[in-house]
Amino acid sequence: MVVFLLECNHIFRPIKLRGLELENRIVMPSMGTLMTYEDSMVTQRMIDYYVERAKGGAALIFTECASVWPESTQGYALGVSDDKFIPGLTKLVEAVHAVGGKIGIQIYEAAEGIINGHADTSKLRIMTPVDRFQGKWKAIPTEELPLIAQAFGAAARRANICGFDAIEIHCGHNYLLHEFLSPHFNTRTDGYGTTFENCMKFPLMCIEETRKNWPEEKPLFMRIVAHDDYTYDADGNFNGLTIDNMVTFCKEAKARGVDVLDVSRGNFGKGNIYEVPSMGLPFGFNKDNALYLRREVDMPVMAVGRLGRPELANIVLSQGADLVAWGHAHIADPQIVNKCKEGRFDDIRYCIGCDQACSEAYHIPEARHISCLRNPAVGREREFELKITDTPKTVLIAGAGVGGMEAAYTLAQRGHKVILCEKESVLGGQFRLAGLAPDKEDFALTVDYMIRQVKQSGVEIRMNTPVTSALLCELKPDELIIATGGKMRELDVPGGSYAVGFADILTGNWKPMGKCVIIGGGIISIEVMEYLSFRGFDTTIVGGLPKIGAGLSHGRAILADKYLEEHPEIEVITNAWVTKLDHNKVYAHVIEKKTDRRTKETTIVREEDIEIEADTIIAAVGSVSNDYADLVQAAENMGIPCHIIGDAKKPRFAVDAIREAAELAREI
Ligand SMILES: Cc1cc2nc3c(=O)[nH]c(=O)nc-3n(C[C@H](O)[C@H](O)[C@H](O)COP(=O)(O)O)c2cc1C
Ligand code: SF4
Repeated sequence: MVVFLLECNHIFRPIKLRGLELENRIVMPSMGTLMTYEDSMVTQRMIDYYVERAKGGAALIFTECASVWPESTQGYALGVSDDKFIPGLTKLVEAVHAVGGKIGIQIYEAAEGIINGHADTSKLRIMTPVDRFQGKWKAIPTEELPLIAQAFGAAARRANICGFDAIEIHCGHNYLLHEFLSPHFNTRTDGYGTTFENCMKFPLMCIEETRKNWPEEKPLFMRIVAHDDYTYDADGNFNGLTIDNMVTFCKEAKARGVDVLDVSRGNFGKGNIYEVPSMGLPFGFNKDNALYLRREVDMPVMAVGRLGRPELANIVLSQGADLVAWGHAHIADPQIVNKCKEGRFDDIRYCIGCDQACSEAYHIPEARHISCLRNPAVGREREFELKITDTPKTVLIAGAGVGGMEAAYTLAQRGHKVILCEKESVLGGQFRLAGLAPDKEDFALTVDYMIRQVKQSGVEIRMNTPVTSALLCELKPDELIIATGGKMRELDVPGGSYAVGFADILTGNWKPMGKCVIIGGGIISIEVMEYLSFRGFDTTIVGGLPKIGAGLSHGRAILADKYLEEHPEIEVITNAWVTKLDHNKVYAHVIEKKTDRRTKETTIVREEDIEIEADTIIAAVGSVSNDYADLVQAAENMGIPCHIIGDAKKPRFAVDAIREAAELAREI
């Protein structure tokens, strides 16, 4: 944290929007939670999630987008398309008001965006402005457009009955109103497309209906994209929305009663990276667009996109933005605004932009709702409430990686005596390595925060201390937690020892030279590839699967593809299984298969042995758990309950280790 910039004078200035008085300038924007019931109703889980954030000090929080059109109200999308949603939504509003918070509802028609949710689209008519995919999805008939606009109006009427303080109409992110607005997506010939004036007609109709049914004294926000990204015609010319299109549209929207522009970015395709921005995108990448619209349209704006640091928000507000959205920041730490107000900057659990548990939940079928690497309590606020123990115990923890530390301070905060032993001379385990890869510097914040928490909560830390049977015998704890993590998997091929481990490259222990060949095609290989290519090394990556980057989140996969496109000098060899190494050569067997989609028959289309010249060979082929069998045996002999968490149990991601630690520390 930069000490001299810690003033939050612009953040803590009140503002009035029509009749709504806001205490400060920070808003939690709309973020899907996947916490509804299957019938799109509000759940207690969802109420607990929003209440926790309302308590955290944001001036206003928005619900996730709520569907106005019955047909699209499915797949865990929140509904406001029928009166039957009023009781649940009212309960949510009342719960937020009861803790002193203010809450708005974002309303939308999903259109093709619904396929991004957990929706069963097989029986669904997907609404689009024009026929898509050879007519699989039919364009909305002209006569139906007023009905959809009226559905926005009906949603506004319901939102008022529920007691919401604000409405936000969603005109971005490739949802229906954006698709109408964008000349790239809308080529209708019925007077609602082709020219920009026509493209605006339907969204403006929806705004009019919304305002008509929404009280004068309550503000109407409008979420927009500042402009489209990567939208081109067949000749490669940009044909999407420009920011000056948006100036024209926003002036019309203002004249129809919109009060605040919520200036986001993001559309289908590569432009998706801006909708839910992760590490790899610069902080504040979109703020100048918000400031431009502020000047040109002359109305309040909310700046959006990687501004979740107090010093950044304060600067953007000082430059003329009226509000700042903190999205990811609120998932990672619901108390962030209060902590800023109290000057407790070091206590903030900052989002690190990993996208591993929040937006990625939309791409992992088994994830029931969003979560967070830094905050496993997301969506489990009630069950995760910290309770002081009635039976304090002595708990010995072997290993001070992120799992061990999370368990240590949580147990100590609950009143247990905790002894945390680390065999190395530093805390943080394998996760420290993650912070060494390009763009992942923020990962180090996690370790720094955890070290502070461990120290503040009175955990006894023993460095350079492996937990052995002898130590167990000496300390005789009531419980033992094994969080000894994993180690790099060695390359099990003849000559495997010619390869240096990725960790030695990232830490600088081994100096790469000349042509570098990375073996393995997963996340770590991508990071090492970026690390080396950034430093100018001739880099080749050899992966066994048809595509490299397995395990990358949706957004990071797009960024990795973009990086490779911009660096054609990086050689990528796929479907290649390494068979042997020499001191300056990698031997691999390439086997490429193709499956016929109709017959499901698989045939080999290419098979050959290849040789790749190399000066430095780097192995990034995963991890294996460290061995702790003796310790388990010793604990069993002494009758000490023993728990194994994180990579020690099975090598996975940090998000799994932290979640398991957080769960266990609440059970003991
Ligand atoms: C899990 C998740 C779900 C989101 N869902 C929505 C949504 O329902 N509607 C919307 O307009 N934006 C949605 N967003 C985008 C955020 O509102 C916000 O614009 C974006 O995260 C950038 O802000 P940030 O960098 O402060 O997180 C979502 C973001 C996340 C992380
Ligand atoms: S999962 Fe990662 S990106 Fe998402 S909120 Fe948590 S720290 Fe941020």
